[in-house]
Amino acid sequence: MKKIAVLAGDGIGPEIVREAVKVLERLRADGLAVELEEGLVGGAAYDVHGTPLPEETLALARSADAILLGAVGGYKWESLDISVRPEKGLLGLRSELALFSNLRPAILYQQLADASTLKPEVVGGLDLMIVRELTGGIYFGQPRGVRTLDNGERQGFNTLVYRESEIERIGRSAFDIAMKRDRRVCSVDKANVLECTELWREVMERVAQDYSEVELSHMYVDNAAMQLVRAPKQFDVMVTTNMFGDILSDCAAMLTGSIGMLPSASLDASGKGMYEPIHGSAPDIAGQNVANPLATILSVAMMLRYSLDEAAMAGRIEQAVDRVLDQGLRTADIYSEGTRKVSTSEMGDAVVAVL
Ligand code: IPM
Ligand code: MG
Repeated sequence: MKKIAVLAGDGIGPEIVREAVKVLERLRADGLAVELEEGLVGGAAYDVHGTPLPEETLALARSADAILLGAVGGYKWESLDISVRPEKGLLGLRSELALFSNLRPAILYQQLADASTLKPEVVGGLDLMIVRELTGGIYFGQPRGVRTLDNGERQGFNTLVYRESEIERIGRSAFDIAMKRDRRVCSVDKANVLECTELWREVMERVAQDYSEVELSHMYVDNAAMQLVRAPKQFDVMVTTNMFGDILSDCAAMLTGSIGMLPSASLDASGKGMYEPIHGSAPDIAGQNVANPLATILSVAMMLRYSLDEAAMAGRIEQAVDRVLDQGLRTADIYSEGTRKVSTSEMGDAVVAVL
């Protein structure tokens, strides 16, 4: 029996996770041997325990085979000290569990081609994978903080650091994934300005020598941002640093029309992972039963594939999502004229019905 830690978090987190849990329950009826255990994270945890990542949640996450996470954060906690903000709960899980490899696919569903802000011929058939380094770089580098200079002026500072071993392991992740795809890796850096990413580029070249069938290219991050909106289909796998990946993955997500459709996986060296939609907690629509649960449901599919060795069941979920889109069902974020607008729970029920 495998254990899944379910951390719904804040904002729309509980609503979308509820739908994903329905899908898991449906698959359990078909023989999926998993048990679910809930825990608190983010603002929800802060309200109860005074910390966004309580010890018991961390222990639960450590003991689980996989983690399903909704989203963290909201207006309510924005004025808290940065050390106890909901986001720290998420960052703490990533770093404590060494989930260094963050896979963020951007796939355009042909049924939603109209929802993209780009022309259909530019995005049609888009299928790219961003591999983001998730436990290093400027997000975690020391020293960091705000200090007061001799003249009394304050100065904020953060540190961009990467060890060779950190670059190498995320490089291997990207190349391994490329081997199962179109065998092209584009490494994104700012090697013309930042020494740290000059080293990044050098290590990527070294890793590439072990993958003769994969073609490696390099791109500066500013150009990569431009190319993503100019001609996104040129990319197969993109591999990049924590912060560049944060930014580029939002951009790539929007190419597909809705950030509400995209799942993600954050994996450690052994394949254990945390799975979450790439969108946030959307406090503006929380509690209204209008959020799109498909990204979370598709995150369950990634979980089945990458951590639970249930590729067939993962495929069933992905097909079911395709099917409900065929049926014309749309939550508000992907709604267009001629389709049927449904709520969060109706969308979840529709996926379960197809399953
Ligand atoms: C993401 C989010 C997080 C990040 C925030 C919520 C800390 O934007 O997962 O992309 O910056 O990594
Ligand atoms: Mg982000």
